[in-house]
Amino acid sequence: MLRTHNCGELTIKNIDKEVTLCGWVQRTRELGGMTFVDLRDRYGITQLVFNMDTNAGLCEQARQLGREYVISVKGTVTERSNKNAKMSTGDIEITVNSFEILNEAKLPPFTIEDNTDGGDELRMKYRYLDLRRNPVRNNLELRHQLAMETRNYLSKLKFIEVETPYLIRSTPEGARDFVVPSRMNPGEFYALPQSPQQYKQLLMVAGYDRYFQIVRCFRDEDLRADRQPEFTQIDCEMSFITQEDILNTFEGLTKQLFKSIKGIRMDKFTRISYADAMKYYGSDKPDIRFDMRFVELKSIEADAASQGSLFHLTNGKDFKLFDEAEIVVGINAKGCSEYTRKQLDELTDFVKKPQIGAGGLIYVRYNPDGTLKSSVDKFYTADDIKLWAEKFNAEPGDLILILAGKTEKTQKALNELRLEMGSRLGLRTNDTFAPLWVIDFPLFEWDEETNRFYAKHHPFTSPKPEDIPMLDTNPIDVRANAYDLVINGVEIGGGSIRIFNKDLQKKMFTMLGFSDEEAQAQFGFLMNAFEFGAPPHGGIAFGFDRLCSMFGGSESIKDFIAFPKNNSGRDIMSDSPSTISKEQLKELSLKVNVK
Ligand code: AMO
Repeated sequence: MLRTHNCGELTIKNIDKEVTLCGWVQRTRELGGMTFVDLRDRYGITQLVFNMDTNAGLCEQARQLGREYVISVKGTVTERSNKNAKMSTGDIEITVNSFEILNEAKLPPFTIEDNTDGGDELRMKYRYLDLRRNPVRNNLELRHQLAMETRNYLSKLKFIEVETPYLIRSTPEGARDFVVPSRMNPGEFYALPQSPQQYKQLLMVAGYDRYFQIVRCFRDEDLRADRQPEFTQIDCEMSFITQEDILNTFEGLTKQLFKSIKGIRMDKFTRISYADAMKYYGSDKPDIRFDMRFVELKSIEADAASQGSLFHLTNGKDFKLFDEAEIVVGINAKGCSEYTRKQLDELTDFVKKPQIGAGGLIYVRYNPDGTLKSSVDKFYTADDIKLWAEKFNAEPGDLILILAGKTEKTQKALNELRLEMGSRLGLRTNDTFAPLWVIDFPLFEWDEETNRFYAKHHPFTSPKPEDIPMLDTNPIDVRANAYDLVINGVEIGGGSIRIFNKDLQKKMFTMLGFSDEEAQAQFGFLMNAFEFGAPPHGGIAFGFDRLCSMFGGSESIKDFIAFPKNNSGRDIMSDSPSTISKEQLKELSLKVNVK
């Protein structure tokens, strides 16, 4: 060992001890005849002291040390006269007897401090320097802890971790595949797995009963703060279970992680159907840290379901926007009646942004004196508006914000406005955690462009048995045994009970527009396996990077990945992707137009 201790462990108990420490020079300071050096390693910082009066030569050499030099020092632990209560080693310093420079360092392009002066790009380019900073290291340590807890928890429940291949067959469903050309099979390609979905199902056919894997997945999709082209899942599958068993097992895992890592005990997770999530929050991943549920003043759906028409609340008053709308829906922003004109204009501009797409915003102020004032007073009487306020359970001091238009688009826009109001009102703090199961997802979604159904989750997801007869009559209404775990409005995980009957699987592929031959060619190995005794099974996968960033209180998963890609999918440190040589291309039987 080159050292006797690390830079985070010496305390007052070690006074007078002779020690050897190694690490990086964080900074040097001169104070009168003294020179102080902060020596840093993964475990902390220890102050080194050099005295001009007692050892001028050594002190002079210490003054030459540059930032990030790697050194080894020998010295004696001494009590500091000027203690620093913020540091675990703040009571002591090392009076240095000798030191050795193990390696010099160029001046780093940004400061290796908690709050650095380096911008995003620069820190990515020199990621190994960024990784030296405490906040990034803490994030990776948190990631490690979460992985360890997960492995322990699942192993105790008899799950075994099995590795599945990274070079697999490309499948047309889901996101785009990353493909890898095969040298030995000219003109043929592997794909990198978007998830181990089919393999974990094969493991169930093989009788493994409870599988998990903390596994890298690859998806060639547009990137955002919570999406990376390569990311990690806690991937699981279980046999002879119901949806309830899966939800309970992974609710248990989530609770255990919160308890052991954050000291937070969670109650039973709320559950909501996909239909209600859309109706009350306009989103399949509602943030339920705050209430502010949608209230409908008019709804084609409510009317169609003959729950009594709401139309009398809005229609027939010559207000064209509402008369023509499929839905009139709003939220009650409690305590916001005194929003200024400027604030209301800001909210109107917000909902009119192209990515939100509302035409405008209607408001009703419930003034503290009990009077009501709306932006549509021209069309509606005080009694009309009073009825609205009652529907919203509004009280003096509240502000009702309303959007109108096509159902889906309006719900989505109101979801954005709800989240914006939640943020403005400080209701979305990152130290509160509100988990939620969203269940009963639709089995299919219709794609206007390609004029066909797509599987909402994936083609192996089972319809709810009671909805199977509707596959032939109104497939869009068929619900799936599929579920998502959402925390604070972030989709942490998703899964489903699988189809294990070959005929139903075949039917599913037909509905998705595959001919028997196409289905056989793409998914034959799984369908064939189902003929050899497939047990009923189901599973789930958590986005591990998202889970880590949620625990770390950040929205960006990049901060929790050691070597992430930037938003264009590039690794700017190694400058990849990159071109390859003509020889390599030839070997792979590839022809490309080289830039
Ligand atoms: P799904 O596609 O819902 O399900 O993925 C599961 C979880 O993985 C995370 N995730 C991502 N995280 C970071 N970057 C990405 N690009 C990315 N894409 C997905 C999300 C998501 O909830 N095989 C099924 C699971 C199953 O049915 O068992 C699957 O992959 O947190």
